[in-house]
Amino acid sequence: MSNDTASENVEDEEIIIDIDEPEMTVEDLPGVGPATAEKLREAGFEELLAIAVMSPSELAEQAELGEAVSSKIIAGAKKLANIGGFISGTALLDRRREVQKLTSGCSALDELLGGGFETQAIVEVFGEFGSGKTQIGHQLAVNTLLPVSKGGFDGEVFYIDTEDTFRPERIAQMAEAVGMDPQDALERIHVARAYNSAHQILLVDEIKRMSKNLDVKLIIVDSLTSHFRSEYIGRGMLATRQQKLNRHMKELKQLSDILNALILVTNQVMSKPDSMWGDPTRAIGGHIVAHASTFRLYLRKSKGGRRIARLIDSPNLPEGEAVFTVTAEGLQD
Ligand code: GTP
Ligand code: MG
Repeated sequence: MSNDTASENVEDEEIIIDIDEPEMTVEDLPGVGPATAEKLREAGFEELLAIAVMSPSELAEQAELGEAVSSKIIAGAKKLANIGGFISGTALLDRRREVQKLTSGCSALDELLGGGFETQAIVEVFGEFGSGKTQIGHQLAVNTLLPVSKGGFDGEVFYIDTEDTFRPERIAQMAEAVGMDPQDALERIHVARAYNSAHQILLVDEIKRMSKNLDVKLIIVDSLTSHFRSEYIGRGMLATRQQKLNRHMKELKQLSDILNALILVTNQVMSKPDSMWGDPTRAIGGHIVAHASTFRLYLRKSKGGRRIARLIDSPNLPEGEAVFTVTAEGLQD
């Protein structure tokens, strides 16, 4: 779905939280002159809604403004921003009808997810190193380019790479395996290396901007948590880290709704020394990440190079497992 068709559809407009308020800009806010507007924009506060949801101290810090000024700006943004609101169940159902499903190329995995990876959703893939998280990301990137008749989205891909593990050669290999021209495939996958968590967050704004001219159908954040984990260390930093992660995921979720796109985030696990029974690992980011994800897939390595994906806490699907392998051609049953 392109943005053009969305704006023609009245029911869409009812339900979309319009973060691209067209006529109002930061200059319309009380007490914002050209210099302050510039500061806000430089800190990534292009849209009023992004300002409206900040706390004064956070905005002050991020945009290098005084707290009193920030307070006033936020109050103004709350009045001017289109915060959205309640919508009817029918409109919601119409929105759900637009959900599209992407094939992973592996039928067991598609089945586990009720027919494929859904748009308007965040899918969190977590598991230990080498469990196949990045491989799933590469495969879904390629499959997104496929025509809808072949289980794709015929759309563009944005890949936020935090660990420098994106490999164009791997994309080329997988593209060839599904009969696509590797060069064409690479043209439609836009990759940015995120250098730290603040940069990672800003890149989402950049995708928001670029989505005005591109039909973005898949956004990958690989890994969602690695920068946050290494930057916010110790108990004292935990609350701040979780707040930032929460806001980051809310922005991603908003984008998935607006664009009718799929968001794939990867997450590592850490060992849980206090667990006596069951799996002694748990995902990083705790409840915040778990709660913000629509679907959660837990990957485990198994015998003979096999990998087991387990669906966890899904709102409308039974829990279950699927087995797949990673080959030179990509994911396979
Ligand atoms: P971390 O990012 O380290 O947490 O791991 P990850 O879960 O992202 O693992 P990743 O997806 O990178 O999986 C790596 C594994 O995929 C390798 O150990 C290989 O088993 C497999 N793999 C990757 N590339 C290829 C390939 O070209 N051919 C084959 N046969 N297997 C591959
Ligand atoms: Mg990886």
